[in-house]
This record gives sequence, C-alpha cells and structure tokens, in this order.
Amino acid sequence: MKILITGGAGFIASHIADEYINLGHEVFILDNLLTGFEYNLNPKAAFIKADICDKLLSKLFEEQKFDVVNHQAAQMDVRKSVADPSFDANTNIIGTINLLQNSVKTGVKKFIFSSTGGAVYGEQEYFPADEKHPTSPLSPYGISKLAVEKYLFFYNQQYGLNYSILRYANIYGPRQNPFGEAGVVAIFTSKLLAGEQPIINGDGKQTRDYVFVKDVVNANVKVLTDEKSDILNVGTGIETNVNEIFNILNKIINNGQVEKHGPPAPGEQLRSVITSEKFYKRYNWKPSTKLEDGLKETVNFFEMKLIK
Ligand SMILES: NC(=O)c1ccc[n+]([C@@H]2O[C@H](COP(=O)([O-])OP(=O)(O)OC[C@H]3O[C@@H](n4cnc5c(N)ncnc54)[C@H](O)[C@@H]3O)[C@@H](O)[C@H]2O)c1
Repeated sequence: MKILITGGAGFIASHIADEYINLGHEVFILDNLLTGFEYNLNPKAAFIKADICDKLLSKLFEEQKFDVVNHQAAQMDVRKSVADPSFDANTNIIGTINLLQNSVKTGVKKFIFSSTGGAVYGEQEYFPADEKHPTSPLSPYGISKLAVEKYLFFYNQQYGLNYSILRYANIYGPRQNPFGEAGVVAIFTSKLLAGEQPIINGDGKQTRDYVFVKDVVNANVKVLTDEKSDILNVGTGIETNVNEIFNILNKIINNGQVEKHGPPAPGEQLRSVITSEKFYKRYNWKPSTKLEDGLKETVNFFEMKLIK
C-alpha cells in the first residue's frame, strides 16, 4: 500500500514508518520538524518537509493518490495548549481538516488517527476506562483531539471515509524526546544516565498506563486493513505510579541517585488507566511488553545515544 505518515520524524510515527516499510509498504513521511528530527527518518521513506496546514499539500495528494493516511503529527504539549489554544487548534484541528479534505478528494481508503486515552477522558469516573467512558477533556489539547474524533465520524458519514481512532495511553520507548514537558520515562532516563537528579512532582503517587512503543506500532499495523470505522483504546490496563517508574529506572541505571520530590505540578491528572479489551476481542491483540523489559530497552537506546 502507499501510505502517508504524518509526524514520521517524531517518536511514535518514526517507529510506525519503520515497521510499515519492513512489511513492504511504500511510505511517505510528512513532518515540519517542529519536535521531530531528521535522524529519526527511515531512509527508505520519501520525506516531505511541510506543515500539515499547508494548502499546497493538495498537489502531493493529487500526485500520489495514497491508499492510507496515518496521522500522528500534532501539537501535543498540554501546557502549550493551555497557554496558546489557537495554536493548538490550528495544528490539531485545522491541520487535520486539511488532511481530511485532501483524503476524500483523492480517494484515500483509510485514515488512522492518534488520539489520547488520557486527555480525552479527563479525570476518570471508573478504572480502567473503556471507550464508552465519558469524555471530559480538561485541556485544549484534549478538546482538539476529541474534536478530530467527531470530524472523523462526520467524514465517514458524509463521504464514506474509513477510519481508526487509536486512543493511546502513555507511550514510552526509544527515540522519545527527553526535552519535552511530558514523557517521564525519557526525562528520568536521560537525567539518570547523565548523573543528574530527577525530581518527582508532588508525592509521585499519580498513576499512568505505560505502553511500550513497539506495542503501539503493532496496533497501527492491525488497523491498516480494518474495514470497521471505530475508536480503540491502546493501553495495558495496568496503573504504575511515578515513584515506581523512578525506582525501576534507578535500579537499571544504578548511578547512585535517590528518590527526590518537588512541588506538585498544578492541575496534573491523578489517575489514568485504560483497557484495550475491545482491541483484544477484535484482533486477539493486547500490549505484550512487560514494563521492566520496555524500560531496559529504552535505557539501552539512550545509553547508545550517549556513546555515539
Ligand atoms: N507520547 C505519548 O505518550 C502520546 C500519548 C497519547 C497520544 N499521543 C499522540 O501520538 C502522536 C505522536 O506523538 P509523539 O509522542 O510521537 O510526539 P513527537 O513530538 O515525537 O512527534 C510529533 C511529530 O509531529 C511533527 N509535527 C508537529 N506539528 C506539525 C505540523 N504542524 N505539521 C507537520 N508535522 C508536525 C513534529 O515535528 C514531530 O515529528 C501525537 O498525535 C500525540 O498527540 C502521544
């Protein structure tokens, strides 16, 4: 298949691109390199350095007639979305509409969208959240992701565009940017390897559902040929708190640091965990990487990067 992946110079989408190429697909990557890096690009992919909001993308769509668009590019900084909701909406909503318009005009058969199972549900009413859990986003980022989910439903009803919405939990693994505001695994790993002291926000008892990036890639492979347009959670159903993450990483890296706490981050969600039961029932698939194994692989990656 001919597949356009947006955000393919970034963390998650660069792994998806690698796997799609391994499977023999023809891959095009669209990225403006805002938070992505050229060194993440698979050399076998065609790279287009452009913004998803660019009106000139119509030419690319008309020329290439993609079978699938896998849309991972986003403004994904929650704090930035609060500080500048227009910027967030412009990238995450207007940019996505640009891709959707071009998709329906040029006969794209499938649109895969990376949503979020944290910010879309907001503070959860029950644990783990399934796809029927009420959606109460507490940030413009969560709102923009949810808005796109609604647009996808519209494009499906109006034009028959087939879609898969993947609501990711907290993804970690090689290539995650340690300089972003999120991504506690990447931040702690790079600090510990540099012999610096990571600071845990508040009491560190806030929980997340940590999914290894390779499991997320498999989810993106599974939905490639799914003819049912649907919303699917991608999570482990397991809650892990920040103290536990710190202590596992600290044990692996063993650089003599101790658990240290700072003030709590204002407005931080307390608990977030989602179930992939629906995904499992449909594809007999669930995330399979054990946390300790995924963290070891992540540490190895960051170590190799330091040596290079
Ligand atoms: N990392 C997580 O835990 C997590 C959780 C839930 C959802 N997600 C979603 O997964 C997707 C990928 O996230 P990631 O962690 O790999 O982030 P990332 O920042 O590493 O990747 C995003 C990529 O999109 C590109 N990009 C940003 N704005 C663009 C624009 N206007 N035009 C073209 N390219 C643009 C960036 O340069 C970057 O390469 C995002 O949609 C994010 O919202 C991530």
